[in-house]
Amino acid sequence: MSATLEKIGQAMDTKELAVLKVDTLGKSGSFTAILKGMKDLSAEDRPVIGKLVNEARDKLERVFLSNEQRLHILEVNETLKNNQQDVSIDKKIQMGSLHPLHIVKQRIIKFFVGLGFWVEDSPEIESEYYNFTALNVPADHPARDMQDTFWLSNHLLLRSQTSNGQIRTMEQKKPPLKMLSPGRVYRADEIDATHSPCFHQIEGLVVDKNITMCDLKGVLEAFAKEFFGAQTKIRFRPSYFPFTEPSVEVDASCFACGGNGCRICKGTGYIEVLGAGMVNKKVLQNCGIDDTVYSGFAFGMGLERLTNILYQIGDMRALFDNDVRFLRQFQ
Ligand code: DAH
Repeated sequence: MSATLEKIGQAMDTKELAVLKVDTLGKSGSFTAILKGMKDLSAEDRPVIGKLVNEARDKLERVFLSNEQRLHILEVNETLKNNQQDVSIDKKIQMGSLHPLHIVKQRIIKFFVGLGFWVEDSPEIESEYYNFTALNVPADHPARDMQDTFWLSNHLLLRSQTSNGQIRTMEQKKPPLKMLSPGRVYRADEIDATHSPCFHQIEGLVVDKNITMCDLKGVLEAFAKEFFGAQTKIRFRPSYFPFTEPSVEVDASCFACGGNGCRICKGTGYIEVLGAGMVNKKVLQNCGIDDTVYSGFAFGMGLERLTNILYQIGDMRALFDNDVRFLRQFQ
């Protein structure tokens, strides 16, 4: 016993101690052999010797435990000492950078939030109703085709536009409404320099009493000036969207040439920025909003388009390839 206690005290590390413990208290350990021998003692001796043996076992266990703790602490300290980091070494930590799409999205959101818009989230897996029907898209409209929309089962689809956010907001909240709905949208397009099956849009919606097209123009002009520069002018071209009436395509004067015509605006002096219009009365009615009291405007823009124009990125795929040499330029 005293020899064992001495060995325990001399153990150099927890591994050595563990081996010693097995040799002593394990199934075929030396102390276990003594315990096993108890059955050969006379009935008289057994209680007396049994008591001594039990006390000895308790002591062994306590000594093992305290030495395990002692050696463990030593080992932890040793490890810490050997793995010390020299924080004074200049390791040239590489700064990450925001993705250009994110930068542009944040700029747009910041501008509209400054005007009192709030941001809404709406689902990417959407029902046919919210993506098309409630938005007054006719049942036979080509946008609903298999070739354009990713259909799932049970009249569900991957939303093809963030305009679904309009409907959900108008259903859930009462006017006055001023919301922005950014997010991913999906269309069954082949990937090339100007197309991707997944891209991003930002939808805007305002509904209140006495909202007119002047409000739409004022807001979008202020946006274009903030986004492209103070000299920027906008123009409305008549267009068609089922969910707005009248509908317009909005162009901004080219920030690169000021409207004279250059490579960026393809010689036209203007850049196509977004689609917009006055919310179609049928859409207001579909959402239970009284169209004799309220009117509204809506707009929708493609984030990739605006990002490509702003940074003069020729190929949309660069936005999704995640080549760090490209991304690093946007610090
Ligand atoms: N949803 C349209 C699209 O994907 C964009 C759009 C146009 C949204 C006009 C609008 C709008 O809210 O008024 O092309």
